[in-house]
Amino acid sequence: MRAVCFGLAFAALVGVSAAQEKKAATIKVLVPEAGYQETIVWLNGEKQKGTGGTRVLTTAPIEAGKEITVKVEALIEPNNYTKITRPREVTVKAGDSVTLDLTKEDKKYDKIVVRWVPTPDDIVDQMAKLAKITKDDIIFDPGCGDAVMLIRPLKMLGAKKGIGIDIDPKMVKKAQEKAKDEGVADKTVIKEGDILNEKDMAICAEASVVLIYIGDDLGARMAPVLQKLLKPGTRVVSHRFTLGDWAPDKTVKVRGADGDEYTLHYWEVKAKK
Ligand SMILES: C[S@@+](CC[C@H](N)C(=O)[O-])C[C@H]1O[C@@H](n2cnc3c(N)ncnc32)[C@H](O)[C@@H]1O
Repeated sequence: MRAVCFGLAFAALVGVSAAQEKKAATIKVLVPEAGYQETIVWLNGEKQKGTGGTRVLTTAPIEAGKEITVKVEALIEPNNYTKITRPREVTVKAGDSVTLDLTKEDKKYDKIVVRWVPTPDDIVDQMAKLAKITKDDIIFDPGCGDAVMLIRPLKMLGAKKGIGIDIDPKMVKKAQEKAKDEGVADKTVIKEGDILNEKDMAICAEASVVLIYIGDDLGARMAPVLQKLLKPGTRVVSHRFTLGDWAPDKTVKVRGADGDEYTLHYWEVKAKK
């Protein structure tokens, strides 16, 4: 009997010491300072407390000698229309103290979404004028929203075809219904798609005109894809935002019907070298 008790006590002690050997790891996460909103950080799906450019996260206790991989994700809102999700996996051991830099753009993993803000009708008309749209043109809008940039040139200028993609299935439905209501459904192709996915963007290859209103972050990411996929001579007009380091051929200011000043940028795709 005494031997059994001794055995149990020993086992309990061994158990306790093994448990004591478990140690958390610390991950110092560097994130962009607050833009429009404070950056939010998650650890394995759990929202973490904290503000500012440095967040210190603590993992669950890890057994000595073992590794775990955790998911860290930051939601960055540089302005009131852009949300950037920056996910990363980190592998740590018990007691580790590591730094994870999420301040820099990560072309492979960043997901960027811009919310719907429509371009006013009269500004679409001014963009169409700048692009010199005719009845022979095929227009592409990456992030087409309710498809105003397709429907106006189709209706007002008799353009040949309008192609739009949007990441939000609700917007795709809205755009398709609007094209139907406005009597141009047979001249439009509107699909769900992500500007950051080159396969989804392949649809732009037949365009002769691209009309854009998408924000500087997405514009910069999209520019090399557009330059690669578009035919030489394709005219590109962007409402307000630039396309990264693809310098516009010209930038003009126009007055809107609402009295505000709008900036439009124009590019013509050059012959491939
Ligand atoms: C600023 S609105 C512009 C809508 C329209 N082009 C216009 O000028 O009225 C941007 C649109 O892009 C869509 N969008 C945002 N992120 C996107 C992404 N990664 N891929 C495709 N569409 C996206 C949004 O759902 C929204 O409808």
